[in-house]
Amino acid sequence: MNKPKTSFAPPRGMRDFYPADMRQRNLVFDAWRGAALAYGFEPYDACVVESLDLLQRKSGEEVAEQIYHFEDKSGRRLALRPEMTPTLARMIAARQGALKFPLKWFTLAQCFRYERMTRGRKREHYQWNLDIVGEAALSAELEILAAAVAALKAMGLTDKIYNIHVNNRALLAELLAKSGISENHHAAVFLALDKRGKTGDDEIKALLEKEGLPAQAITETFNLLAVESLEQAAELAGPESPAIAALKELFELAEIYGISANLRFDISVIRGLAYYTGIVFEAFDAKRQFRAIFGGGRYDNLLTAVGGAPTPAVGLGFGDVVIMEIINEYQSATEADKRNGVIVGYMFPEQRCSAMRLADSLRSQRCNVDLMLTALKPKQFFTRAGNSSAAEAVFIGPDDVERGFAYRKDLATRHQREIALSGRT
Ligand code: HAM
Repeated sequence: MNKPKTSFAPPRGMRDFYPADMRQRNLVFDAWRGAALAYGFEPYDACVVESLDLLQRKSGEEVAEQIYHFEDKSGRRLALRPEMTPTLARMIAARQGALKFPLKWFTLAQCFRYERMTRGRKREHYQWNLDIVGEAALSAELEILAAAVAALKAMGLTDKIYNIHVNNRALLAELLAKSGISENHHAAVFLALDKRGKTGDDEIKALLEKEGLPAQAITETFNLLAVESLEQAAELAGPESPAIAALKELFELAEIYGISANLRFDISVIRGLAYYTGIVFEAFDAKRQFRAIFGGGRYDNLLTAVGGAPTPAVGLGFGDVVIMEIINEYQSATEADKRNGVIVGYMFPEQRCSAMRLADSLRSQRCNVDLMLTALKPKQFFTRAGNSSAAEAVFIGPDDVERGFAYRKDLATRHQREIALSGRT
């Protein structure tokens, strides 16, 4: 007979967040939220359960194969969202007449993908989504990229740590067309090429053959990926190329934002999602130890695909898993573990009322206070304070109440200053 299970771990690939983990997570979430608000984005949200039909797309995308799905008791085909963009498109299409464009929206969405687990890849992650919908100008790409850089800065990551690799799917489309590959093959070619690095070239060739590409076209497609600079790409695309003009404009405007040093043209950035139509980008750590920090791009046709009117759009998804690893690798623990608030304790039950009054007064001044629930010995209290997330500690003994003040001690510097106690005990 099987013994009953008495202990449970979270399902594989899913995380628990204990308070110490939450402190780290909040550092990232605060940086995301702060940057989104600083760049004029408004928050939105939706349920993590979506209809499977919306999320499943046709062309063999990896994400579509990784969806966690189920039937509800009425037989509806539902899923845990693997990304937020289809939901965003659905929400906008549903109110297109009433909304004022361009929209600048952000969310912090938990997403689920049944992935093969590697470093930086889990089966559940949080994703900061930042999208501008209803704007065709490249200013939208710039605002999104600059906001992402601002978030990285707020996490204490300098621009030496990462690079943003930029490409334009329209450039690839122009170059494929020059190689005689018709437009109806482009989406499949993009998705096949995006598998490079994860899948062997032979397998990618087989995918392209299956798509009906002749051997010559397959060789030319692979040759495109050997292009190393924007100048070389411009030579191939010709002087009239709108895709090259867009990339050049993007790099010029990036100088004004002070983010050009981190931008690199990289023809191998294609993106694994079918809906992108223009500029695409992915950020990586400079040593290329981790998978992408964030990724996104322009997707001008998605709204029509979900029943909306044609609407240009651009956005990014920035996950919490890789960035947490990078913060741990590059940042000192003290920076990552920001303390705040005051822990208040007392020595004997007679000082309880003074401690409660002090906590009440500090809380009314919008200070976070962790008030001890019973009397503690000084050693017990200060051990607890050291292990807490508080920045300061106040410990009240009988003498303090008599004197009318106690000491407020900075737990990092050990520096202390007086704090008044109210007269009554
Ligand atoms: P994505 O490249 O599939 O794009 O995901 C964006 C980011 O989410 C990745 O760069 C990574 O940080 C994180 N991420 C994705 N999958 C996982 C995973 N299994 N474990 C940990 N982190 C992960 C999108 O999802 C697009 N919807 C982004 C977008 C928004 N494009 C336009 N607007």
